[in-house]
Amino acid sequence: MSETTDLSAGLTVLVVGAGAMGSQIALVAALAGHDVRLADLDAEALGRADQQLRKRMEQQVAKGRRTADDVSAAFARLTLQTDLAAGADGVDLVIEAVVEDLEVKRQLFATLGEVCRPDTILASNTSSFVPSRLADAAPYPQRFVNLHFFNPALVMKCVEVVRGPETSDDVAARSVAFVESLGKQPVVLEKEINGFIANRILNAVRDEAIHLLEAGVASVESIDLACRTALGYPMGPFELMDLTGIDIGYRTKMARHAETQDPADLPSRTVTELVAAGHLGRKSGRGFYTYDPSTQTPGA
Ligand SMILES: NC(=O)c1ccc[n+]([C@@H]2O[C@H](COP(=O)([O-])OP(=O)(O)OC[C@H]3O[C@@H](n4cnc5c(N)ncnc54)[C@H](O)[C@@H]3O)[C@@H](O)[C@H]2O)c1
Repeated sequence: MSETTDLSAGLTVLVVGAGAMGSQIALVAALAGHDVRLADLDAEALGRADQQLRKRMEQQVAKGRRTADDVSAAFARLTLQTDLAAGADGVDLVIEAVVEDLEVKRQLFATLGEVCRPDTILASNTSSFVPSRLADAAPYPQRFVNLHFFNPALVMKCVEVVRGPETSDDVAARSVAFVESLGKQPVVLEKEINGFIANRILNAVRDEAIHLLEAGVASVESIDLACRTALGYPMGPFELMDLTGIDIGYRTKMARHAETQDPADLPSRTVTELVAAGHLGRKSGRGFYTYDPSTQTPGA
């Protein structure tokens, strides 16, 4: 790939990590006409990803949202690999979506730096690490960028394109073109910052909702109601925390605090108590709301 290669045209893309995010990112790219290799250390994870993606696409075809021909053409463009070096051979772009562990990711980018062409764009889907934490693991940090997809990647439109201090203009522009080729909406961050844009705003809203609750200003139900009916949110911040898992937000805050040592980054008292009691949201039957175990709807 030369400096002028168009990243919106049919590319060869390697997605590393076949979990919740990587599997769907790979299919999004294959549906958009790119040749995609999905790699994972774990052959079972690849098998699970393949099964889940096929089931999901069958449902979409049954509902008339996609044609059977488009779906089978996409699966024909998607190959599964456990051999990273073979998967990386000749690719234009790598999207890393492995476990959220800095050392695992840095080691992976060091390996990718050795086995990919020097002009391959290396991208991470991480939610936690800014580009400068990862870019210097590979030998060419100017070709590193974060492409932050949202869950579920097959559905969510936004992809944050996060530039690190060394990301070249050319790599940023071609990353934007690639995201557009997927039918997604690129949102560019000219400067890196922890949490990027959407999660920072989401976290600020959550923190304020918890502050209002702990200050006794209003109930969980009232705060959610205000967000839905005044701000047009599809669900209130407490409903959303119950849906995503209260422990997820708790662990994110603990990890942030471990880095900053700033007490302001610690999880709130309310969240800490819920996690300690095992009330993690919908998945445990109780969080800010109580759920009917058979329907998973509030109010049992
Ligand atoms: N889950 C989300 O809601 C979400 C949203 C946006 C971004 N992300 C980011 O996406 C990344 C992946 O998250 P996920 O939820 O899909 O994780 P996951 O745990 O579902 O999947 C991770 C996969 O990576 C594989 N893996 C681990 N180390 C590997 C290696 N060295 N080489 C190849 N494969 C390896 C594992 O076998 C597993 O299949 C993380 O960086 C996360 O921050 C997650």
